Amino acid sequence: MRVFAACSHGVGDIAAGELQELGFKTGAVHEAGVEIADAGPAEIIRLNLCARTIFRVYIRLAETDVRTLDDITAFCSSIPFSDWFDAGQPFAIRGRREGDHGFTSMDVARDVGSAVIEHFERVKGKRIPVNLDEPEIEIHANLKGSRLEILLNTSGRSLDYRYHRPFQHFAPLKPSICAALLRLSSYTEYGNLLDPMAGGGTIPIEAVLRALNIAPGIYRNRDEYLFHHLRFIDRAILDSEIKKAEARVLGNPQIRVMAADRFVKNVEGMKLNAAQFGMQSHIQIKQGLAETLSYIEKGEYDCIATNPPFGMRIGSTRLTEQLYRNFAKACADKQIREVVGLTPLKRTWISSFMQNGYAITHSRIVHFGNLHVTFLKASLQ
Ligand SMILES: C[S@@+](CC[C@H](N)C(=O)[O-])C[C@H]1O[C@@H](n2cnc3c(N)ncnc32)[C@H](O)[C@@H]1O
Repeated sequence: MRVFAACSHGVGDIAAGELQELGFKTGAVHEAGVEIADAGPAEIIRLNLCARTIFRVYIRLAETDVRTLDDITAFCSSIPFSDWFDAGQPFAIRGRREGDHGFTSMDVARDVGSAVIEHFERVKGKRIPVNLDEPEIEIHANLKGSRLEILLNTSGRSLDYRYHRPFQHFAPLKPSICAALLRLSSYTEYGNLLDPMAGGGTIPIEAVLRALNIAPGIYRNRDEYLFHHLRFIDRAILDSEIKKAEARVLGNPQIRVMAADRFVKNVEGMKLNAAQFGMQSHIQIKQGLAETLSYIEKGEYDCIATNPPFGMRIGSTRLTEQLYRNFAKACADKQIREVVGLTPLKRTWISSFMQNGYAITHSRIVHFGNLHVTFLKASLQ
């Protein structure tokens, strides 16, 4: 099967690196995903279960160039949908469209849906039910310019919903973005990591999960995956992949991780989140200011990975810029060798670190939702 592993726009190469490390033979690498040419049921399950930097795994059913809705209908009527699922399975089409077209994404979804229904009536003599809320089969019809791709969602809702956090921070970063950011960090080599603006603790938790080699999907409610409903996927394969993943878990992370935040509420919330994973002894949690990092000694930590405030609220940009300047100075004072972070205020971040003896050794734009941020790595010279 041809598989497309989707990630946030801008981290395709990072995701490809992770998938190769997990043993997958990757094909084309796009800004927002990675192709895998020849994946069987076990590989599809393993991708869903083990990969940290992707958020959905699709099977590529078909793709072509189209201009009109009639082209879409004609093309979709040739897709053998009944090779993939049965007439009794409720299905939904999710349409997405980018570019100039004289029709909407709803029109695309409606016409692809009609093609599915007609296919089952023609080939099986049965009407397949539509269920937009709780489908067993979810097909994504993406039209980008003239390119139409028809994808079968094996993950269900985003793999970013991989674990329950008892404390919900008001601006949590998606785990797959944290995992991608962490892959830019050298924390596994240095053996230590600090997140001084940790909020609900997503970055430190992801860092420890990776250090313990815990597959993120282990915590997910298994019924959320949609691959169960594909007839060629046997639940026994899932059980066997889970067993293999559990056998790979390490007993000790071999890294020191500290998380801090200025607000007690977040510090207490983070403690609850860390406890949820039994990570109380793996993450030291402090209350303190990123402007001083007064809770650590000089030279105690080499690596920082952090998601600072973005200064998006009215009037807060100036304060945020001041925070970045003071934070960069504190990093230099505490001899932090490497700081990875993401921000929409790229210029301030760069100048703050450069004025404090750092060189910018990595920079890339990443999109999530409507937000464009820059991943930046600053290395002490
Ligand atoms: C964008 S949030 C981090 C969210 C986190 N990555 C998560 O997934 O939950 C930024 C955090 O920085 C904290 N913060 C803001 N200013 C700070 C400062 N001067 N020192 C330490 N923490 C600060 C905020 O309280 C907030 O929790």
